[in-house]
Amino acid sequence: MDPSDWIDVNEDSFSYKIEHFNIPEHYLEDVSKILIPHGLILDRVEKLARTIVSQYTDRLVVCCVLKGGHQFFADLVGFLKKLTNKEGKHLPIALDFIRVKSYENDSSTGKVQISMTEKELASLKGKDVLIVEDIIDTGKTMVSLVNHLKTYELKSVKIASLFVKRTPLSNGFIPDYVGFSVPDLFIVGYCLDYNDYFRDLDHVCSISPVGQKKYAIKQ
Ligand code: HPA
Ligand code: MG
Repeated sequence: MDPSDWIDVNEDSFSYKIEHFNIPEHYLEDVSKILIPHGLILDRVEKLARTIVSQYTDRLVVCCVLKGGHQFFADLVGFLKKLTNKEGKHLPIALDFIRVKSYENDSSTGKVQISMTEKELASLKGKDVLIVEDIIDTGKTMVSLVNHLKTYELKSVKIASLFVKRTPLSNGFIPDYVGFSVPDLFIVGYCLDYNDYFRDLDHVCSISPVGQKKYAIKQ
């Protein structure tokens, strides 16, 4: 996928008041704007699934990066199971899960921990693997993960990230499949969290100063 195929989300030209859509009442004062409504996210995920189905033939291991990737993963897999390629065939898929942690509050700590046993990693040898991530911000996490996987002789490894942040801190990492390019803001919802809050919000929103303060990790 070429970056010209990503949907560019802009804070001003592309946002909705929180009154425009349903928001859980416990978050009403914690978000400022809805950047991407849930329905639009689902339409975009369906299109990514169609592109993916058209580009693979052999069994694909779809690997969810927990926890943030889980909603994108669940919806993507749902579409992958339904859609067929040009020959009318479904793509055989296997599911896997990995936990990669690098964040505390909203700035990168630079530390990345990957949780997958040697045995689990070795079982990926010779397979087509699609890593499913919620957001590429600095790119550090994904570069570490992809480098780590190189030693395990996978047949192929591609990355699907629903969001890529336009940030000067990016290391230039570009995923193979991308839903939206988003502004350099801390965003939450659709499983993107702020210290584990907002995973139960379906729309992608910018966080308000109130929310930022309320849910910050107390030092
Ligand atoms: N929101 C939530 N999680 C994130 C973000 C963000 O903007 N960037 C990197 N991880
Ligand atoms: Mg993530």
